Amino acid sequence: MDYRRSYIRDLFAASPGAETSVFGWVKTRRDSKEVSFVQLNDGSCMADFQVVIDAGTIPDSELKRITTGACVRFDGVLVESPGSGQSVELKASGVEVYGEADATSYPLQKKGATMEFLREIAHLRVRGNTFGAVSRVRNRAAWAVNDFFQSRGFQWIHTPIITASDCEGAGAMFAVTTLMEAQGHGPESQFVLKSKEAKDDFFGKPAYLTVSGQLNVETYAMGLTNVYTFGPTFRAENSHSVRHLAEFWMIEPEMAFCDLEGNANLAEEFIKAIIGDVMNHCESDLEFFNKRVEPTLLETLNHVVNSGFERMTYTDAVSALGKSGETFEFPVAWGTDLQSEHERWLTEVHVGRPIILTDYPKEIKAFYMRQNEDGKTVRAMDILVPRIGEIIGGSQREERLDVLKARILESGLDEAAYWWYLDLRRFGSAPHSGFGLGFERLLMYLTGMKNVRDVIPFHRAAGQAEF
Ligand code: 4AD
Ligand code: MG
Repeated sequence: MDYRRSYIRDLFAASPGAETSVFGWVKTRRDSKEVSFVQLNDGSCMADFQVVIDAGTIPDSELKRITTGACVRFDGVLVESPGSGQSVELKASGVEVYGEADATSYPLQKKGATMEFLREIAHLRVRGNTFGAVSRVRNRAAWAVNDFFQSRGFQWIHTPIITASDCEGAGAMFAVTTLMEAQGHGPESQFVLKSKEAKDDFFGKPAYLTVSGQLNVETYAMGLTNVYTFGPTFRAENSHSVRHLAEFWMIEPEMAFCDLEGNANLAEEFIKAIIGDVMNHCESDLEFFNKRVEPTLLETLNHVVNSGFERMTYTDAVSALGKSGETFEFPVAWGTDLQSEHERWLTEVHVGRPIILTDYPKEIKAFYMRQNEDGKTVRAMDILVPRIGEIIGGSQREERLDVLKARILESGLDEAAYWWYLDLRRFGSAPHSGFGLGFERLLMYLTGMKNVRDVIPFHRAAGQAEF
């Protein structure tokens, strides 16, 4: 058997009369005296394909095996479909059942299963409408990301996943070590520590899973001008929020000869382009999400593509929050980080569209952001969108060696560990900027899905690493 070169989505456009075979998994089978109807799906599109079996064509012993979840191939001829919404259907003359699915134990046949339940069967949920659609949108958005940058001359850099530096200085990193050996299996297993000395470890020093590819990708911007990295990143945040994963994908462009304004312009253009592309290519998937998941989805996406993003400084945002008359769980004061409730008020209530917040206090932002003349704020930008809050974090980078060194010291980091990052400022330094877009946050926005765990095939979060 060769790999499939045609899919159910192609059959909808085919003309009646052709003999063909249809492969897929059974969604439902309905029988009457004269005829059976099977709805078949192969994941190529939202719509199921209808197969019609005239009584007597397929022996009863075979027909009985064609249950929800079974994997089958039907052979037959395409005929005009009298039903609405589908131009052709297959009039079956034969069937091969590749794999049965026991009707009493197949987990996916429950109608109206909750997202929580579907998360527990993440190995099977992709056969349902919701996760088929999530997967297609995710695939298309990833394609659009590469297309966006490639068509603008950005080069894709594969930054390392294992790193010895802590980019964000946030501390929530997973250690990568061979000093620990697990004995036994499952939750009862015990770790044996082979040595306490980092020099005895695999890399001869502490190493971690990366929280961001930024520092590495910056080195390539200082030679290739416009670059981006797109890959998995890891944060050991012990959070049960609907917006945080321990393993998520991030897109990080980095541009030499670009300031914060140029950075913000690119980010806005980027978000609009990805949304526009997915709207063009995943129409029925988005319609499904609009109908079943988030009734304001299409309206919001259209609005975002067609409206300018608001721009505002952190200082002005704090002042607007202070005058809002709202009671927030966390008080707002200049110098504190904005909480999700503040971010959402700003983007949803205050301006009613995406907002680019800039010039945050340096104490609440990473060491590499360029300092403003006031000595208090840095050229940071966060992009906040309705329903989600923060979707992008970025900045213009500090290109001045002395200022950067002082910031590393002030932040309590080890200057020696950043020797190569500092070298970029010693040799041919240039003004440069970049940002990071959380791919799953973008997918929540694109699909209206409420939990970030439901826009990635197999989620990793505190206490959750099944599959
Ligand atoms: O704001 P963050 O921490 O910025 C950086 O990592 C910079 N180094 C990016 C850069 O300038 N190159 O993270 C960027 C984005 C956030 O805005 C958010 O969308 C997403 O990554 N993000 C997460 N998504 C899912 N789960 C988590 N735990 C996330 N943490 C951040
Ligand atoms: Mg951030």
